[in-house]
Amino acid sequence: MSEWDLEPSLIKGRLDKFNFINNLTVLDEVDSTNEFLKREAQNLQDRTLAVAIVQNSGKGSKGRSWTSSPESGVWMSLFLRPDIQMNKAPMLTLVMAVSVARACQILYNLPVQIKWPNDIVCNGKKICGILTEMKSLSDGGYGVVIGMGVNVNTDSFPQELREKATSIFLESGKKWQRFDLIGKIMECFMEDYKLFLQKSDLSLLLSAYSSMSVTVGKQVQVMDVRGSYSGKAVRIDKDGALVVECEDGSVKKIIGDEVSVRGIYGYV
Ligand code: BTN
Repeated sequence: MSEWDLEPSLIKGRLDKFNFINNLTVLDEVDSTNEFLKREAQNLQDRTLAVAIVQNSGKGSKGRSWTSSPESGVWMSLFLRPDIQMNKAPMLTLVMAVSVARACQILYNLPVQIKWPNDIVCNGKKICGILTEMKSLSDGGYGVVIGMGVNVNTDSFPQELREKATSIFLESGKKWQRFDLIGKIMECFMEDYKLFLQKSDLSLLLSAYSSMSVTVGKQVQVMDVRGSYSGKAVRIDKDGALVVECEDGSVKKIIGDEVSVRGIYGYV
């Protein structure tokens, strides 16, 4: 399958089925769709979607790079100007995680789960990563860029990723049209974002998030700037924090992208 399935008219055809995306840009090649939207933020409409055929400098979380080969994935970012306090915007990463997971369940019937806070995994391997960034604007407001990279039709990964990464193709045995997935993720996000905005937190999404969580109930190892400790992940709070019962009996609320949580037996 080549780039034909990212033809703007096909993506637009899907987005026009509901009224959420105000502007769509499909880029033949860009450094990173997140960087593109941050550069353009000052002039963008709320709910602008940028989709790249090729990203030559894709960004992952924690300063890592993100491999985004053409013809195989969905590399896209959504720009929002939400009417909420800026400190609540990082929760949108978890909202998008619910939306991507739901879209994969609906379209492909795959047993996808969410590794807190924002990795979508299938059979223990990562299928999608999400990177949310903020941009201050000259009118005193701010914009949010939610970038997602979904491995759709990837048929193999480099040796160093093989243990951790998978694709919708590898899990389902079929190649898929990416415009369908883009449309379904945005449709699910429209619904989930509405629930988020009602309370400015995750309370109306917690049951969906928790039911798909691969982290809750697991023994986890938490690595943050102060060091590493282990405990049992017991729940997600409505602010998106992971609550961990530590081995010394203390209970810790973990927030933030700079923290790394791993199952003690491996990636999940
Ligand atoms: C992660 O490390 O899990 C987050 C990966 C996010 C990748 C996507 S691809 C589209 C958007 N543009 C980027 O440069 N990164 C995000």
